[in-house]
Amino acid sequence: MQFFLDTGNVEEIKQALEWGILDGVTTNPTLIAKTGRPFMEVAKEILQLVDGPVSLETVSKDAEGMVKEGKFLAELGDNVVVKIPMTPEGMKAVQILESEGIPTNVTLVFSPAQALIAAKAGASFVSPFIGRLDDASSDGMKIIREIKQIFDNYDITDTQIIVASVRHPMHVVEAALIGADICTMPFEVMKKLFYHPLTDKGIELFIKDWEKVPGRPF
Ligand code: G3P
Repeated sequence: MQFFLDTGNVEEIKQALEWGILDGVTTNPTLIAKTGRPFMEVAKEILQLVDGPVSLETVSKDAEGMVKEGKFLAELGDNVVVKIPMTPEGMKAVQILESEGIPTNVTLVFSPAQALIAAKAGASFVSPFIGRLDDASSDGMKIIREIKQIFDNYDITDTQIIVASVRHPMHVVEAALIGADICTMPFEVMKKLFYHPLTDKGIELFIKDWEKVPGRPF
C-alpha cells in the first residue's frame, strides 16, 4: 500500500521524505488555508519536493469552472492530480480532464455507489472519507471493504482507492488488510505508525546492557 501525506505543510513532507516512506501528497483547501501561506508558493514547493502524485483541489461548482481550474493546476507540474468533488458536474469534469491526459482524484466520497460512479467516469483515483463517516456514527472502513469488493468484481484497476480522512494508525492497518491501493494520512498519524512501547522499552534495555559489555568499540 502506498503512503500519502494529507497535508499542506512542507516541513512535514520533508520529514516523511527523509524517512523514505512517502509516495505522494493530497491537499485540500482547508489544509492549504491552515498553512497561512500563498497557494502558489505552497503548491510549487510541494511539487518540487515530491515525485509521486500531488492532489490539488478545484473549488468551482460547475464542470466548466472545474476544468478551467484543473487545467491551470495541471500546468504546475507533471505529477499534479486534480481533485474534483463527487457531483454530476464533477463527473463531467473528470471525463474531460482525463480525456486530455490530466489525472483526477474524486473527493468527498462517502458511499460505494459514489466510488463506482467515479470509476465509471474514468477517474484515476477515488477518495472515500472514512474518518468523517466514523464521526457521523457510521462505519467508515465498511465502505472501503465494499468499494474494494466492487472494484475486484469488475476488475477495475484504472481507478485507485485512496483511503482518506484517516484518524489513527488502525485506519492505516485496516486499509492495508483490505488491500486499498493508497492511504493518505495526517503527519501525526504517520508518526504514530513508528511507535510501540515494547520497542522503546527494548531500546532502553539494550543500551543499558551494552554498558556492561567489555571492550566496546563504540
Ligand atoms: O483530504 C481529504 C481528507 O483526508 C480530509 O480529512 O480529517 O478533514 O476529514 P478530514
